[in-house]
Amino acid sequence: MREIKKISTIEKYTIPSGNNSCKLDANENVVLDKNFLINISLNSLKKIDLRRYPIELYEDLYKKLSNYLMISKRSLVLGSGSDQIIDLLLTLIGRGRRLTSIYPTFSYFKTRCQLHKVGFSEILLSSIDNTLNNGKFIEDAKKSHAIYLCSPNNPTGNQFEKSQILEILTSLENNLVIIDEAYVEFAKYSLTRLVQKYPNLVILRTFSKAVGLAGARIGYMIANEELADLFRNKIQLPYAVNSISLAIAISVISNPEKMEKSISLIKDERERLYRNLSNVKKINVYKSDANFLFIKCNEKYDRILEALENSRIIVKALGNIENYGKCIRITIGTKKMNNKILSIFNNIQ
Ligand SMILES: Cc1ncc(COP(=O)(O)O)c(C=O)c1O
Repeated sequence: MREIKKISTIEKYTIPSGNNSCKLDANENVVLDKNFLINISLNSLKKIDLRRYPIELYEDLYKKLSNYLMISKRSLVLGSGSDQIIDLLLTLIGRGRRLTSIYPTFSYFKTRCQLHKVGFSEILLSSIDNTLNNGKFIEDAKKSHAIYLCSPNNPTGNQFEKSQILEILTSLENNLVIIDEAYVEFAKYSLTRLVQKYPNLVILRTFSKAVGLAGARIGYMIANEELADLFRNKIQLPYAVNSISLAIAISVISNPEKMEKSISLIKDERERLYRNLSNVKKINVYKSDANFLFIKCNEKYDRILEALENSRIIVKALGNIENYGKCIRITIGTKKMNNKILSIFNNIQ
């Protein structure tokens, strides 16, 4: 009972608010045509047999994903969203162990560390340009068993220099290095290929963001073959992903043109929104390598949130972030949604 009571003190991960046509708080891909996905889902339903466990579907998705990423299928492990894989990784790291990460970062990860009783040490990012003090990070990580970095980072949107991550990887050979690439399709580089070279590297990816399938709940891990085999055969649940989700994912990855076009549109819109918001007085918008913008709102915070709410636009209100002040995070939406955002920001005094 004491253990259960303790859990109630863990900060709750705030689930993004409900449905709204202008819901820009969860970094989903709202640019991808909904009808395209409806058609794919209906066709997928016709192809599956729900009476059976999804054995062939698993094999098919592993094969398609391996072709798409140009990586051995033995390096891949599917999960029910990358959230579920994170939980298993923390089980593997184990109670009482220590992990080094940064602040701010993906808040869910920290709350899961608390649940799994993995100590969470965080190194502050520079509030000026979101850069990481590598020396300090490596020094702290040497006292830890594992590290967690988002690349690009959520909520700040930046991707660290590749040379910095490489330095971390080579300096911390004995640590499990988890790189969360949930937003990598919008970024400058991926470390996927490096899993062959670094046996301590684990990369997390997801179908929830760029691929537009947040509702299907599919994530995956990429690691060297030995670790991935162990994870797939001994740690992961045999059927963590259901047949319907697998079939839909297979179709989307087999017809990637629409998804890829939406990614390119989002990147263009991200730059347009960034340029225009940079001219708005008394706020600071940060350059982003993801599908969202991180904005320091200073004294305009309450007015901005009120104006967005009045227009029924939902964004992620981050509150006061140590070292930064009051910030929000906005998902890049359709051109129409982004124009609405710009008009609101331009009209706030
Ligand atoms: C950095 C990061 N990792 C993982 C996830 C979770 O992804 P999934 O939907 O695959 O569980 C998110 C979702 O917001 C995220 O921002």
